Amino acid sequence: MGRVNEKVVLVTGAARGMGAAHARLLVAEGARVVVTDVLDQDGEALASELGNAAIYVHQDVSEPTSWATVIAAAQATFGTLHGLVNNAGVTSRASIEQFPLDLWNRTLAVNLTGVFLGIQAALPAIRLAGGGSIVNVSSVEGLRGSPGLHAYVASKFGVRGITKSAALEGAASGVRVNSVHPGLVNTAMSERLDPALFPIPMGRAAEPLEVSQAVAFLLSDESSYMTGAEIVLDGGLTIGVPYKGAALEELFS
Ligand SMILES: NC(=O)c1ccc[n+]([C@@H]2O[C@H](COP(=O)([O-])OP(=O)(O)OC[C@H]3O[C@@H](n4cnc5c(N)ncnc54)[C@H](O)[C@@H]3O)[C@@H](O)[C@H]2O)c1
Repeated sequence: MGRVNEKVVLVTGAARGMGAAHARLLVAEGARVVVTDVLDQDGEALASELGNAAIYVHQDVSEPTSWATVIAAAQATFGTLHGLVNNAGVTSRASIEQFPLDLWNRTLAVNLTGVFLGIQAALPAIRLAGGGSIVNVSSVEGLRGSPGLHAYVASKFGVRGITKSAALEGAASGVRVNSVHPGLVNTAMSERLDPALFPIPMGRAAEPLEVSQAVAFLLSDESSYMTGAEIVLDGGLTIGVPYKGAALEELFS
């Protein structure tokens, strides 16, 4: 039996990257998945690869009316909804003095308002199913600052916060809400970043599936006593002091 057998899960931004990896693993572990994205061709291709266990629905997560449509599609196709992965995200980079307001607003609209709208729409449906799990994708940039990523950092700190406030409201009715905080992961979003530039103790970026395993855990009953919690998957990037230029051997000599 799979880890998420018979569960119905909605994964946003799942046409490619980590979202697609989450959808594939969840189906392999027995779930039925609603894949949503703005990239219709990739989304349709993934859904047909996954067969009867998946449908694709076009969705811009920042669009409030889109949420009623995707929840209704989940219920109409699979009868219920047990889980939501708020994975859709965009990044943006500029110095704080040059940061365009429209870029700030768009980043917050997708990464933070999209998560808020998703929790708001999914909570009643998951309650109706008798309880379930919401996983919000934050980042290590929701745990610390990062130059140039002002809107992204603000949005990912926001995701971390709303995870805990929603967890407090969902707990009594059996709806758990947790966040995951990946470090550098090999997807289109990070393709211009060289892992060698970051002090990652494990010395490499993650593969999407390494994050999917934690997402599947949070959606499964294996995590039945976890809510409002944070899972960090960063190869050790945020656990200690990145000594400037000094090799570890020099510290001990
Ligand atoms: N790649 C990394 O290093 C990294 C690290 C930490 C966190 N994250 C987060 O992981 C999540 C997945 O990112 P990824 O690395 O797979 O990147 P990605 O760009 O491959 O995937 C993001 C997906 O979100 C979709 N999307 C963008 N705007 C959308 C919108 N308005 N509505 C619906 N879908 C939308 C994109 O079309 C794309 O399919 C994001 O929330 C990202 O911030 C990524």
